Amino acid sequence: MRKPIIAANWKMNKGPRETEDFLNTFAGQPGKLDGLTGQADVVIAPPFVSLPAAVASLNSASAVAIAAQNMSDQDSGAYTGEVSAMMLKELYVRYVILGHSERRTLYGETDAVINAKIKKACESNLKPIFCIGETLEEREGGKLETVLRTQITGGLEGIDEKDMKEVVIAYEPVWAIGTGVVATTEQAQDAHAFVRSVVADLYSQEVADKVRIQYGGSMKAANAAELLAQPDIDGGLVGGASLEPGSFLDLIKAAV
Ligand code: G3P
Repeated sequence: MRKPIIAANWKMNKGPRETEDFLNTFAGQPGKLDGLTGQADVVIAPPFVSLPAAVASLNSASAVAIAAQNMSDQDSGAYTGEVSAMMLKELYVRYVILGHSERRTLYGETDAVINAKIKKACESNLKPIFCIGETLEEREGGKLETVLRTQITGGLEGIDEKDMKEVVIAYEPVWAIGTGVVATTEQAQDAHAFVRSVVADLYSQEVADKVRIQYGGSMKAANAAELLAQPDIDGGLVGGASLEPGSFLDLIKAAV
C-alpha cells in the first residue's frame, strides 16, 4: 500500500567530483536500477555544494530524486551560511531532510526551528524527510514515547492534512546512528507503530495509514529486508551503507 522510500544521507561526505563518480556508477549504467525505482522511491542527499553535480549527473527526469540535508526557514536576506528553499528548487531538489539528530544535537535545532523549516518546505513544494528519535538514555529511562510524541507534535504543528501527504517521517534512534548497533526488528516496529499512532491522533487514521515512516540507524543490505518486512517500516534513511554505490544498490535490492 505504501511505496518504500530509500534515501541516502551522505552527511558531510563527497564533494562534487565524488558525487559525479558515485552517480555515474550507481545510475549511469543501463540496467543497474532497472525495475528497482518502480518498486521503491530512491533519494540521494549529498552536501549542498554537490547538489549541482548530482542534478547534472542524473537529469531532472531521473527516477532517482535529489534531497538536501537541511535548509533555512527564511526566503532570502542576511542569513550568512544559509540556503533557501527556492535555491534548492532551482536545482530540481525534490526532498529535504529536516530535524536530523546531528542538527538537533550539534547545531541546537529545536522542535520549533524544525517546525518552521517543515512549514517552509511544504510551502515551497519540497518534500520534508522529518527526522525524530530518542537517545539511549531516554529509551532506558522509559521516555521513548514521550520523546517521540513531543518531537512529532512540535515538528508538525500547523502542518495541515494536505501538506502531511508530502511529509516522510524518519525514525532514527540516536544510539543506532553510525554505531553499527541496529535496532532489533521488534524495537523498530514498535517505535514505528507508535509514531503512526501519534500521527493518527494528530490527524486521522487515514493520514496515518498513508504516511511513510523510514527507519534509520546502521541499516545495511544485510538487515534491510528484515526491517522492511515489518508492517510499519516503509523505507530507510541510510548513512554509512549509502556511501558506496554497490552497497547502496544491494540495500535497495534487499528492500524491494
Ligand atoms: O540519516 C541517516 C543516518 O543518521 C544513519 O546513519 O550511518 O547509521 O546509517 P548510519
